[in-house]
Amino acid sequence: MRQHDILVECSQLVKEYKGTRNKPVRAVHDLSFSIRQGETFGLVGESGCGKSTLGQLMVRLLEPTSGTVRYTNFQDGRGNRKQEKAMRKENQIIFQDPYSSINPRKRIGWLVEEPLIIHGIGKDAQERKAMVCSILKEVGLDDSYLDRWPRELSGGQRQRVAIAIALILNPSFVVCDEVVSALDVSVQAQVLNLLQELQEKFGLTYLFISHNLQVVSYLSDRIGVMYLGGLVEMGDTEQIYHHCLHPYTKALFSASVDAFDSVKEDLLLSGDIPSPSRSPSGCPFHTRCISCMKRCIEENPSMVEVSPGHFCACHLIQGMNT
Ligand SMILES: Nc1ncnc2c1ncn2[C@@H]1O[C@H](COP(=O)(O)OP(=O)(O)O)[C@@H](O)[C@H]1O
Ligand SMILES: [Mg+2]
Repeated sequence: MRQHDILVECSQLVKEYKGTRNKPVRAVHDLSFSIRQGETFGLVGESGCGKSTLGQLMVRLLEPTSGTVRYTNFQDGRGNRKQEKAMRKENQIIFQDPYSSINPRKRIGWLVEEPLIIHGIGKDAQERKAMVCSILKEVGLDDSYLDRWPRELSGGQRQRVAIAIALILNPSFVVCDEVVSALDVSVQAQVLNLLQELQEKFGLTYLFISHNLQVVSYLSDRIGVMYLGGLVEMGDTEQIYHHCLHPYTKALFSASVDAFDSVKEDLLLSGDIPSPSRSPSGCPFHTRCISCMKRCIEENPSMVEVSPGHFCACHLIQGMNT
């Protein structure tokens, strides 16, 4: 398998929700990018910028308003129920809050076994139990957890159960949506390391979503920076971490606890993120950008490859290159 094979591809993806007074909320707006087989693609941006919506579109938990999500290991299976089911098995999502994402009225063994029953995997209860024990062991929980209730578990243990539920079907693509944000800091690193070990062992591809640039940089091969429903910068982690270009990415870095060498200016974000039902004209970031020019108010910059693999949507950067 070539390292750079594309696994999931989004093309001109749009998701609008019904907002108040019939004003649509544009949660994801004309977004195109792809994720490569075996990589961790980190998605970062402030709360409300559309990360969770994009993650759910990418595992087809949500239907796009327009545009497509394509899995290269499937022919397009829309409308074909068998294909849709197979696609669901291959593409899983783990949510932020393990308190609400797992059913509190079921024992752990049942919760982890359920996907096997839904997908008709394992010839009998005994075989399924062996599979459940095996995946629980992979996430660091022994057989004594089978009969325990979610309420008896800590946040970290519950998130391990959520990971087991996502992985028991042996998926290829897993969306991790703020999976450590609800956990104690002391437990966060353990869960991140576990996700990394499991990725290597099972050859997983991750979309790793977080509002925290530090967490994303720790795990990701590439990073996409999202603002008001679209990507404003994308590149290898090295490029984003040490050589970020977009004023928004710089502001995100300077707002995070320890600043980096490449970002010396004090570029704290000012003002609130505009409402997705009233996007500004021109560049979506211009209302908060310290480098805003006349052109930025009038014209939305497109994503341009400023160096190999490093994309940025900013008139300032593009102006410097031409
Ligand atoms: N079911 C929904 N109905 C209406 N608006 C929604 C719904 N889900 C999310 N939104 C809105 O869409 C935007 C993006 O939300 P979300 O994808 O959750 O962003 P993030 O995960 O980055 O915080 C927000 O403005 C949010 O209020
Ligand atoms: Mg979210």
